[in-house]
Amino acid sequence: MSCDPAFEAARGALELLPTLGSPRLVGFGTGSTVGFFMDLARGYSSSWLVVASSIDTAIRASMLGFTVLNPPRGPLDVYVDGVDEFDSRGNMVKGGGGALLGEKILAFNSSVNVFVASEDKLVEVLGSRRPIPVEVVREYTPMVVGALENLGFRVSLRVGSGKRGPVVSDWGGVIVDVYNDGLRDPEVLEATLKSIPGVVETGLFIGYADYIVVGLRECGYKVLRFERKRGRRRG
Ligand code: A5P
Repeated sequence: MSCDPAFEAARGALELLPTLGSPRLVGFGTGSTVGFFMDLARGYSSSWLVVASSIDTAIRASMLGFTVLNPPRGPLDVYVDGVDEFDSRGNMVKGGGGALLGEKILAFNSSVNVFVASEDKLVEVLGSRRPIPVEVVREYTPMVVGALENLGFRVSLRVGSGKRGPVVSDWGGVIVDVYNDGLRDPEVLEATLKSIPGVVETGLFIGYADYIVVGLRECGYKVLRFERKRGRRRG
């Protein structure tokens, strides 16, 4: 029998949550895997207050009957989000949907972070399979891209569909995709990208995972536990 591993990961996250307490303030990430999670979690719509990581998620959650806080507030009891790539240390690349800034703010301001990923998202070196999404200050995009190229990165402006021109995030920055051909250490990579003024945030999530629930093609899931290194916990 084979299953949709993204669905299995979402199912696993929903089963994990009650073992972490009774959350009230819950953050929702962005993407298709979190979409499964939101669908499955509908039964909690009257007991959870939701903080959304993007406009897309806010709309989807509210259409499912969740109360979405606007303006958002925290810290969150738990944050659930998808992943583009993860490594064996629990570091991740995110931002395939262009929501990396909101996602990182929520992941930082959450007591527990649960990420959901299909098993094919495990990589040896982050950024080796796909580019790292980076949000840059819109007006200075050419200058920031030039500085990134000067450091040896290949950069492409992400172009949307349904509108001509670059993908502009929910927070007004332009999303560029940075191809990393050389740096294997994600911390060095992140520090290098962030050393450029005009880089608002990167899609590298280093030290943010408490759990990654990995959905399996052959059905079922594995729960990986990590030592969280970054973020503000409920005091
Ligand atoms: C959104 O900006 C991303 O960080 C998503 O969380 C990530 O791309 C995973 O998306 P899927 O669950 O659709 O693969």
